[in-house]
Amino acid sequence: MLSGTRARGVQPLRQRRVRPRIWILDFYGSAVGKKAVMAVTGIVLLGFVLVHMLGNLHLYQGAEKMNWYGEYLREIGEPVLPRTGLLWIVRSLLIVSFALHIHAAATLTLMNRQSRQTKYQGGRDYLAANYAARTMRWSGVIVGLFVLYHLMDLTWGMGGADFTKGHPYENVVASLSRAPVAGVYIVANLLLGMHIYHGAWSLFQSLGWSHPRFNHWRRWFAMAFAAVIVIGNVSFPIAVLTGIVE
Ligand code: HEM
Repeated sequence: MLSGTRARGVQPLRQRRVRPRIWILDFYGSAVGKKAVMAVTGIVLLGFVLVHMLGNLHLYQGAEKMNWYGEYLREIGEPVLPRTGLLWIVRSLLIVSFALHIHAAATLTLMNRQSRQTKYQGGRDYLAANYAARTMRWSGVIVGLFVLYHLMDLTWGMGGADFTKGHPYENVVASLSRAPVAGVYIVANLLLGMHIYHGAWSLFQSLGWSHPRFNHWRRWFAMAFAAVIVIGNVSFPIAVLTGIVE
């Protein structure tokens, strides 16, 4: 006689096809996983933006120092690594982080839209979270487009200004002495500051580091980080336009 389970058509465990599960993909498939990926890749990108701004302060030391710095970035790691070896390792990490950051943001947005529940959640907290998410989305898109323009301008030399490979000082001055371009850099960096402020504030929450006593410091950290980046980066086009850097 068949047992009750088999009689009802349920296969015994041994015969069931079990699809191998890759835990990291399962994790990334969840909202918590996507938020964690956004936070970790956000930290990598924040690190880059800070180091890049600090490096660009060489502009204030003149052409020789700035151009030396550009060259030095290509030589770090030699002779253990070939020339630009370490630079390409860092670039790869940045490209992967940037792509994952955008993918996680886009899929999280879709997930939220598909989730019926959100439609029925009311209240101020929901509205505030929704407003912040929308702000992050459009500021993120504009900053992404700015990075593309910036690479064309100062890395690939396709921005329409005089460009000499290996001469970042002259390239920055040639590009930013055009007032409309300097304006684009200023506006993009103000939006970047807004994006950084919200991002640096929420990344702690995404990683589960949230506590009422700690939240005060979180806000200060986010504000200070965004302010340092914005002040540093906006100072460059202003310095070129006013002739402080020429
Ligand atoms: C006014 C502010 C900025 C100035 C003056 C500036 C300057 C430069 C220069 C001169 C280079 C070329 C370096 C070289 O080839 O040696 C460069 C590359 C780059 N910049 Fe900026 N930058 C600014 C803001 C930003 C911001 C806000 C971002 C990102 C949000 C950014 C992302 C990049 C990236 C990804 C590269 C390519 C790095 C590489 O491939 O090695 N920059 N920048």
